[in-house]
Amino acid sequence: MQSGSEIIVIGGGVIGLATAIELRLLGAEVTVLCQDFQAAAGHAAAGMLAPQAEKIPTGSMLDLCLASRDLYPEWVNKIESISGVDTGYWACGILAPHYDDCERNEDWLDRQTIHQHQAALSDSIVGGYWYPADGQVDNRALIRSLSIASQTLGVKFLDGVEVTAIDRDRGRVTQLETNRGNMSAQHYILATGAWSQQLLPIPIVPRKGQLLSVLVPTAQRANLPLQQVLFGEETYIVPRRDGKIIIGATSEDVGFAPHNTLKGIEQLITNAIRLFPQLQDFPLHETWWGFRPATPDELPILGPSAADNLTLATGHYRNGILLTPITAKLIADLVWHQQGDNLLSSFSWQRFEPS
Ligand code: FAD
Ligand code: GLY
Repeated sequence: MQSGSEIIVIGGGVIGLATAIELRLLGAEVTVLCQDFQAAAGHAAAGMLAPQAEKIPTGSMLDLCLASRDLYPEWVNKIESISGVDTGYWACGILAPHYDDCERNEDWLDRQTIHQHQAALSDSIVGGYWYPADGQVDNRALIRSLSIASQTLGVKFLDGVEVTAIDRDRGRVTQLETNRGNMSAQHYILATGAWSQQLLPIPIVPRKGQLLSVLVPTAQRANLPLQQVLFGEETYIVPRRDGKIIIGATSEDVGFAPHNTLKGIEQLITNAIRLFPQLQDFPLHETWWGFRPATPDELPILGPSAADNLTLATGHYRNGILLTPITAKLIADLVWHQQGDNLLSSFSWQRFEPS
């Protein structure tokens, strides 16, 4: 494409914003249409960068996740230097404690070692794994930083604009129908997360997650009791540098059912106190929920669509924060330079086509 080409990104979550920024840096005129900025899963997530703790099996998804984790330090530097807003990126490592015997390999930490590694874990923890290269970003700070960076660069962001239909003719998108009238561009990118199936017949469903946060009591702020993520068998606990601790998450197949439920919050509290008992005395700060965009094989849908001028960047399920830098780079290169990367080849929508 040529400098000044017009691109519309549908969806203003982390994937849409980051892709808009890459395309703008390449010279595109970019507009982002977003039905509801606050509803984006990017606000609800825990922000773990956890390909190893999430136990992504060896293969193309792990390759993609590791490539994205590698990009993180340089990428957040770039976004922060454009926006002036810190993202809370923290290469803190992730500890995965286990209650029961599980499959052990040469990296297994025995009981004594894991309790030395992290004080005040539950006595029932018998061992676990340490993933030093995994880490976290403060996803709310990240989305703020991305939003300001995109505005600074001149990306046009229209919140409250819902795309209601994608009109096509002879294999090309001709226009978008929206609640504010019809809009058109040379190229379109679909980054609508859990809502994608409302616009295209691609198999993405919402998988609800409830979370809560507590605050480290003021007296313990100078020496935070957790300085690494705990990724337990039933819960994860993500300490932020500012003294907040995020506890997640449920995984519920309930469509777009809103609200926190007592059952969901009870599950989070019980599992978190079991893993790290001193949390029981920490003040409750906030509860919230969000919707992961889940595909049948739990892999994202990336790359060309059935229409020549529509590219897909959706379905990131549990790892969309982790996968933001690599998705933005690969999709921007594909759209701008028509340059497909091998890393994309496993994530085509066509894997769901009946053969
Ligand atoms: P979203 O962030 O959901 O944004 C989509 C946007 O598109 C929304 O703002 C929506 O309003 C807009 N939109 C939808 N339809 C339309 C339309 N028709 N017209 C215009 N706009 C539209 N990932 C990690 O890597 N690490 C984690 O620790 C982590 N924890 C998570 C915990 C929970 C509880 C949840 C819910 C998710 C978690 N994730 C995590 C996953 C991650 O949040 C998502 O994969 C990621 O946010 C998806 O980004 P997105 O931009 O594709 O979609
Ligand atoms: N990746 C953490 C979650 O989706 O809950």
